[in-house]
Amino acid sequence: MPLAVSFVFGGISSEYNTSVSSLTHIISSYLSMPRRDRSFSVKNMYHLSRDDGLVRTIPFHNDFTISELTAYLSDTSTLPGSTLSATFDAIERRKEYVVNLLLGQFGEDGGVQTIAALSGLKGTFGDPQVASLTMNKYAMSSFVSSILPTDIVRVPKTTLVRPRYVADAIQSAKLRHGQIVVKPNSLGSSLFTGLFDSIAESEYDIRALLSAIFKYDSGALLQEFIPGDDYSCGCIITSSDIILLPVIKIETARDFFGYDEKSTDSLAERKVVGSHEDMSDKLKYITKSIANSSDLCNIARVDFKVTDQYEVWFLECNSIPSLTQNSLFVKMLHHHGKTALDLISMLASKSSSFKRKPHLVE
Ligand SMILES: Nc1ncnc2c1ncn2[C@@H]1O[C@H](COP(=O)(O)OP(=O)(O)O)[C@@H](O)[C@H]1O
Ligand SMILES: [Mg+2]
Repeated sequence: MPLAVSFVFGGISSEYNTSVSSLTHIISSYLSMPRRDRSFSVKNMYHLSRDDGLVRTIPFHNDFTISELTAYLSDTSTLPGSTLSATFDAIERRKEYVVNLLLGQFGEDGGVQTIAALSGLKGTFGDPQVASLTMNKYAMSSFVSSILPTDIVRVPKTTLVRPRYVADAIQSAKLRHGQIVVKPNSLGSSLFTGLFDSIAESEYDIRALLSAIFKYDSGALLQEFIPGDDYSCGCIITSSDIILLPVIKIETARDFFGYDEKSTDSLAERKVVGSHEDMSDKLKYITKSIANSSDLCNIARVDFKVTDQYEVWFLECNSIPSLTQNSLFVKMLHHHGKTALDLISMLASKSSSFKRKPHLVE
């Protein structure tokens, strides 16, 4: 088996559990596959602790079981840990290929990508600057609106709020009428994401939500509400090609894929859009343009709203979509005839790892 792969997972963000579930899904699929059919070998699983920020190494072996993984995770504090940078340097010396399953803050925003680039690690980390751009919903929306015209994709009117000018931001957002979405600029999973009938009627609740957001995020968005269904389009980016996955439409009772809808299956219906349907081609075209222009690598999932008049609105680009068993990305892979394991072997064999350019000009 020529390819050897390790994983880094866990992390210090609110998406810790999703990261652990992504790894668990990958390892249980791997264990249930007959050995002769496995296209890569698993080396190590590196757990970044949310308690002390240290990394513990969980070695994979021939008789490894999911209960062994669960036992490791139930109390990692007894194992010796080391800092992320020391771990990455050691991994680089062993020439392991690492799949980054860290989500959210520090995992997806350029934090871990910078340390990986400094160590010269091979893996799915990608360019730290691209990670920072995609994680910043406000900046990424500006980027998308600058590369594509409004008849292709629009971005909702948005007020960026910082803790020091909440009153001014609320005042200027009040000039817009209609329902309003309040959300963090860079957290995920619809955490602290609220829908309000108007700013004037709900100012007290909106201010309370903004205070909650500012405990975890330096920015929040007050955004016009776009009615319609959610759509999501995923892609795999290899060094020579972009593979666009089947588009998924998400229907919810209130046209809002909020925290409750994401965590309760019965509140959101996820349907695969047929490749012959018009919306599929359009969303794939937009996703491909975004991936090419922003220099994304490995994988990405772009979230949209589409109105009854077929207007397409960009919401966000996820550079590390979760790979849990029930995730949108795994569903997209499935309808493309692939599994998360196929994805990993494709990334390890066909996508190029980010290499930092020299900083000094000779
Ligand atoms: N401006 C908006 N109009 C309508 N719905 C929105 C808007 N912004 C967010 N939403 C809803 O909230 C969900 C989460 O927002 P999103 O920007 O994708 O952030 P994340 O998924 O990172 O939490 C979306 O899938 C969508 O259903
Ligand atoms: Mg989203």
